[in-house]
Order: sequence, then C-alpha cells, then structure tokens
Amino acid sequence: MTTAKEIRSGFLNYFGQNDHEIVESSPLVPRNDPTLLFTNAGMVQFKNVFTGQEKRPYDRAVTTQKCVRAGGKHNDLENVGYTARHHTFFEMLGNFSFGDYFKDRAIELAWNLLTKEFGLNKDKLLVTVYHDDDQAVDIWKKVAGLTDDRIIRIATSDNFWSMGDTGPCGPCSEIFYDHGEDIPGGPPGSPDEDGDRFIEIWNLVFMQFEQQAGGDRINLPRPSIDTGMGLERIAAVLQGKHDNYDIDLMRHIIEASADVSNVSADGEFAVSHRVIADHLRSSSFLIADGVLPSNEGRGYVLRRIMRRAMRHAHLLGAKDPMIWKLVPTLVDEMGAAFQELERAQSLITETLKTEETRFKETLGRGLKLLEDATDKLGSSEALSGDVAFKLYDTYGFPLDLTKDILRGQGRELDEAGFDAAMTKQKEAARAAWSGSGDAATDKLWFDLSDKLSATEFLGYQTESAEGQVQALIVDGKEVPSVTEGDDVMVILNQTAFYAESGGQEGDCGDLVNDSGFKIDITDTQKKENLFVHIGKVLSGTVKVGDVVDTQVKKDRRARLKAHHSATHLLHEALRQHLGDHVTQKGSLVAEDKLRFDIAHPKPVTFEELRLVEKDVNDRIRLNADVEVHLTTPEEAIKAGAMALFGEKYGDEVRVVSMGGPEPSKGKGKNYSTELCGGTHVNRTGDIGFFKIVSEGGLAAGVRRIEAVAGAAALDYVNEREQLLTEAAGALKSSPQELTARVSGLLEERKKLEKELKETRKKLATGGAGAVEQPTETVGGNTFVARVLEGVPPKDLKPMADEIKAQIKSGVIVLIAANDGKASIVVGVTDDLTGQVSAVDLVRVGSEALGGKGGGGRPDMAQAGGPDASKGNEAVEAIKAKLSS
Ligand code: SER
Repeated sequence: MTTAKEIRSGFLNYFGQNDHEIVESSPLVPRNDPTLLFTNAGMVQFKNVFTGQEKRPYDRAVTTQKCVRAGGKHNDLENVGYTARHHTFFEMLGNFSFGDYFKDRAIELAWNLLTKEFGLNKDKLLVTVYHDDDQAVDIWKKVAGLTDDRIIRIATSDNFWSMGDTGPCGPCSEIFYDHGEDIPGGPPGSPDEDGDRFIEIWNLVFMQFEQQAGGDRINLPRPSIDTGMGLERIAAVLQGKHDNYDIDLMRHIIEASADVSNVSADGEFAVSHRVIADHLRSSSFLIADGVLPSNEGRGYVLRRIMRRAMRHAHLLGAKDPMIWKLVPTLVDEMGAAFQELERAQSLITETLKTEETRFKETLGRGLKLLEDATDKLGSSEALSGDVAFKLYDTYGFPLDLTKDILRGQGRELDEAGFDAAMTKQKEAARAAWSGSGDAATDKLWFDLSDKLSATEFLGYQTESAEGQVQALIVDGKEVPSVTEGDDVMVILNQTAFYAESGGQEGDCGDLVNDSGFKIDITDTQKKENLFVHIGKVLSGTVKVGDVVDTQVKKDRRARLKAHHSATHLLHEALRQHLGDHVTQKGSLVAEDKLRFDIAHPKPVTFEELRLVEKDVNDRIRLNADVEVHLTTPEEAIKAGAMALFGEKYGDEVRVVSMGGPEPSKGKGKNYSTELCGGTHVNRTGDIGFFKIVSEGGLAAGVRRIEAVAGAAALDYVNEREQLLTEAAGALKSSPQELTARVSGLLEERKKLEKELKETRKKLATGGAGAVEQPTETVGGNTFVARVLEGVPPKDLKPMADEIKAQIKSGVIVLIAANDGKASIVVGVTDDLTGQVSAVDLVRVGSEALGGKGGGGRPDMAQAGGPDASKGNEAVEAIKAKLSS
C-alpha cells in the first residue's frame, strides 16, 4: 500500500525533479487576502505572483497546501461526516508555473505522474475541458492518447476556475477516476454525474485572466498554471478505497478516536468518529496557525468546528474531554510534513482540552432543553428560532450545531426567528449601553462597532498583512475616502497592528497599496472591538473597500516585544527577591523603556536591584521558548498565572509563560506565567540584555522601577558611556582614571578651602589687605573695628579672640556681611569687663544694623541684623556709646 506520507513526498519529489521549487504551505490565515476567511487552495499564496505584483526567485513551484473550507464562501462543515469526500481540512497537492510552461507541459506532467509514477490504469481515467478549449483537447489526445469519448467538454463554471469574485482565473481541465461499475453514477456532464462512480482527482487550471472588481477580465502578464489535487482523494484511489475516510491517515485518527472512546469505529457511531477525525485536523491546524476559539470572526468558525466535534464526542458517551487525546496520533501522521503542528502541540492540546471542558458544562443541559422542545413538536415540525437562540446565547450552541442535531431528526429550524431574537438582543444591549461620557465620540464608536465586525488581530503571527478598509474617520465623522494631507483614523477588517492595551503602546508603521497611497500611522488604539489606526495620509488616495498592506514598524515592535517580555521576567524576579506582596500597580511598555510600578512599602535597595537584574538576565540567557496558551480566567489563575486586579478579562484569556523551568512553581511550570494580550519575543534570548535604570517612590507604598532591554538597553549603555567619556575629557583624563582624578580634585578642593579660610582669618586679624579700619582709642581704650565681606559668622568669635590676644587690652567689633545680612561680634578684654559689657555694645550695634537684641557674656557677645550696608554706622554707634 502507498501511504499518504509516501504520496505526499512522491508528489513533491516528482515535481522537484522536474525543476520545481518545493515551497512550504502558506498559513491557513491568508496574509495576502483580507477578503478570504481561510486559505482554500494551493494558489492563494501565489495570487500576486500570477498577476505580476510579486516576484519570487523561481517560476515553477510545487506545494502541499493546508486548506480549510468552513465558514465563508466554501463551506463544507455541514456535510462532513455524512459523505465520502467532504472535509473541513484537506491537503491540496499542486504544481505551479508562473509564465513558464503552459497547457501542454502541465498536461504531460500530470499524465506521467498519474500513469507512470503512481501507476494508475489509463483506462480508469477520463478528463473534462472547458467547452471551447480545442487546444486542451488536442493536447490530451496527443499526450495521453485519449479518445474523444473520454474528453468531455463542459460549458459551466465547473470548468472555469476562479478563486473568488476577483483575482486570477482561467479555464480548467479536470481528471476523473472511474471507481467502477458497481458504484452508481455517470461521467461528468451526464444526468447522473452526481453519483459517486466518477470522482474528480485533479484540477489543472490554465491561469490566463485576472478578474477585476469592476467586472473587467484582463489577461495575466504571462499565461500560467495552477493545479490542485486533494491528497485524500488520490490516496483513496491509490489505496484502493472509495471513501477518503478509509485512507491510512484518516483511519489512524478514527481508530484512535474509537480507542479513546471505547466505541467501535465502524458501527452505529461511524459518523461521529469521522466528524471527530476531520474536525481534529482543522482545529489543530488552525490553532497552530494562530487562530484561537473566540466569539467572533475566524475564532468563531474554529469554535463552531470544535463544538461540533465535541457534541459527537458526547454522542460517543465520552465522560471526560477526549479530543485532545487524539493530538499525538495527528502529530505522528502529519507532524513531520507540517512542523508547526509539532511546535504548537502543547497549545493545541491545552486549547482543545479547555474548550471541551467548558462546553461540557453546558452541552448536557442544552441538549436536554432541545430535547424537551423537540418532544413537543410534530414529526417534521421546525424548531422555533427562540429556542435556537437560547441554545446559542445561554448554552454556547453555534447555530450550525443545533442544525446538525436537527438534521438527524429530519427537522428544520426557523432561522428567521433566530435572526429576530438576535436583533432584539442587540437592540437591548444598545439601549443599556453607557459609554465614556463624551456623547458625540461615544456614539460614533458604538455605531461603528455595531455595524462592523470586530477587527481581527494577526499581529501575534506576522508584522505585515493585508486588511480591507471598513471605515475612514476625519474630524470625528465617517468619510468615503481620504487623500494626501488628511489626518485620519482607519478601521480595517484585519491588521497586523497592535492596539494599545495592557500597558503596551500601540503600533506605528505604514498603510500602503500599489497605487502609491501611503498613510503614516503614529498610534493604534482600541475602541470597543475595533482597532483604530491613527495617522496622516502622506500620498495618494484611499477609499472604503480598498485593500491596504498593514506594515508594522518592525524595529519599534521588536523593542516593544523585548520590553514586554522583560517586564514579565522583572515582575517574577521582584516577587522572588522582595516577597509575594509585590503586585503590579501599573506598567508601561514603550519603545525606549519599560516602567513597572509595584506595591512595596520601602525603597528597593541597590543590592536587591542588582539581584533582580541578575536573575532577569540569567533567565534571558536560558533562551527558552515563550509559551502562549488560551484558557479561562479561572483555570489560568488556578494554574498560578498572575492576574491583575481590576483588569477586565473576557471569556478567554491568553496565558504567556516564559523563563524556562522553575521547580518551585511545580513540575513543568515556567519561571513566569501571566495573563497577557501583548506581543512577546519568541525566545527570551531575543530580549538581549536587561538593565534597571532607576527606582523611586511614586506614592505611599508604591515604588516605580524603570528599566531598558534589547536595543534600548544598548542605547542606554551607549549614552552612559558617552557621558563618561565627555566627563573624562572635560577633566583631561580617561574613563579608567576618572575616579582617581575626581578624588584628587576633591582633595585639592578641601585643601584650597582650608587655605581660603586661613587667608580670610589673616585678613580679618590685620594681615595684609585688611579692610581699612585703623586701631584707635575710644573712651580711653584701644578700639578695633572691622567690617568684613563673606566671612562665615561662625568664624567671628575665634577672630575676636585672636585680636584680643594681640592688643592685650581693648574693645573689638567685628561685622561680617553675608548675602546682604549682617552678623556682629563684640569682644571686651577681661581687664575692661568691669567698665563695659560686650552685651550692651552688641545691642547698640545690632540696632544700627536694623536688628534687635543679641546676647552673650560681658567679654564676648553676638547679634545679627538684616541690613549689612549699615556696617559702618553700627561701628560709629558703638564708638559713641563707648565715648559717652
Ligand atoms: N485552484 C484550483 C482548485 O482549487 C487548482 O488548484 O481546484
């Protein structure tokens, strides 16, 4: 038997040997087409290569492309499980020529692969062509030797392939396999073509045109080739099976499902096992590509798929969540070809387990409600919309899940009634809604979020993605288009831009398109469930409905990521060194720094900061993966995630854990685990280097720490080094000698200060240059008076003592002026204290200086006065007192 793995690699290698580049499957969320829900064909990633907008270094390619057809235009969800060939997830094998070979070579390559490499019997094959494509008919005859009866001309869109309403398209030729007479059905184009006997296995599209939005169809720059062959279909043919679910790959998953549930794979519950096997594949691949279950957009399609599978697990009688148990089988089957599956294995497992655990809580009760309601209905009477809405709203039953259950009973559902109930609820929400208080802007955002669907954020996975313009706002009003010079707010259906939240600043960057239009986005904010890009149009014009490329400023995002991840490590390190009372009081994740406020009663010491810094850097260097999970708030907190008090969490929370294993947290637990919606590095090593730059008090019991990481840390260190170099330069020194040089200068300054003091003293006590104030005789005694500038008041008494010693007997008056104020000291030698009191004299002096009082002893008294300009008058007043 040829296994699916062998067929996949056989296909890739065959085209590889025929000069095709083996290209990886693109993600399920198309980055280059905002109007497409999921990648639904191999050519999606090459869309712009066909039209010539994008160049690749090869012009032949081969892929095995992951495809999801659920929700949106191509929706196979309802049929999965009940038919032989419907899947929500499948692999499309395809070869592509971008203006290189065309029809003849494409047909030849396909024919040779099927008949020579894969060894299919020619007689079992027939083909269709577009009705007027004579050229294709001729080539089939020549290359394959097919007779006219086995080349069927089809005039319908079945043989004209287009990806969607716009984009590359062209006539196609399909290859069919005849599963044999014992299966009912006729060849394509015949009245019973819908039978299961003739199965299309490969579609060769002769890509020639581009369908444009206005209805025009133009020629592609060069005719090209796009082919698509479902791996599951060709595997069925090569494995002699009629049903895709009987191929080895699907069968292994179905058997695992039977094992886990203990219910036979092929009995009464075969449909349930098939549903589970299919939905496990689409759910796992979507999760691996960044889609997580939610109540909107792609996340809701995923939730619908998951819940449909979970209801079938319930039908199998599974008491505990079971679908996550099948992940290892899926990884065994497909992990080697799609490594993202291996990388995301724990995320897939956790997400499936959480969703199933949660849904189990309401599934049983919902089913009971439904049973009670249907019991009351006639045999094929439709279920009322109100009941379906209650199941949706209260029990989490997506509408298609309810329909799926009713289908088993041959019963319809009143969809109009469901829609009416939904509208009623929306209106009630609107009436109850209270905004921020600014009525005009509140109304605008409410109207917009009511009218538009939530912006899908693709920025965890990518930094550039296309988005379709949903609304343009200028001066608080919606406008149909904007042009150069306009300040505008732009809302897109999806974006790579992060909108400010959780302390992380919004992204900056450009919105551009090929027609030369460009908006410089300087901020991104969240309003209700919309991301609002704020910026100015630099060139060109854009209108609602246009598709633009959202290009996040990468180096800035890298800095934000480094700061955000570093904040998580810092938080944990602070708790380890300061204690568990440390809780987050505020956080800013900016381009140039991070700021983290914590509850802590006293300053964090220098030593503590160093230890924290060291631990963070040690964790960075461990370079372990940063892991992201989605779970419920309760589960996350139970598992030890740090929750932020006062923060509002939705149904799902994102848990980010990092820093490598931390045994003290429990087996398998990482150093840091937090609830967080921000963007983070992939591995902590990407943070680079972490440095605390300041610590200080913010409010009572709250400390603020600022730090830098990554490129910002390099900037910080460079700035510091620059300062050091400049300081050293100013002191004619080098950074290495700077400390010694500064100590030397301080020593020198001390010495100079001492010398200055000495000199002043000398000046006051009669040294050279003293203020002219001759010694005189007043009232029969020697009298010395000095009025001095800038001598500290505390120096006056020792000076007076010194002068006393010099003159032996007499009266000394010293007045010092400092900043306009005066200090006065009067000294009287001991032999004279019987006649004159220094205290009396100082009072006279102080009065003249505009002051009052003064005190001391008869031999030494001190006072002050506000008016230093009156120094000489004070001296005169004292002289007068002495002479009287
Ligand atoms: N695009 C075509 C298809 O999806 C061929 O790959 O069938």
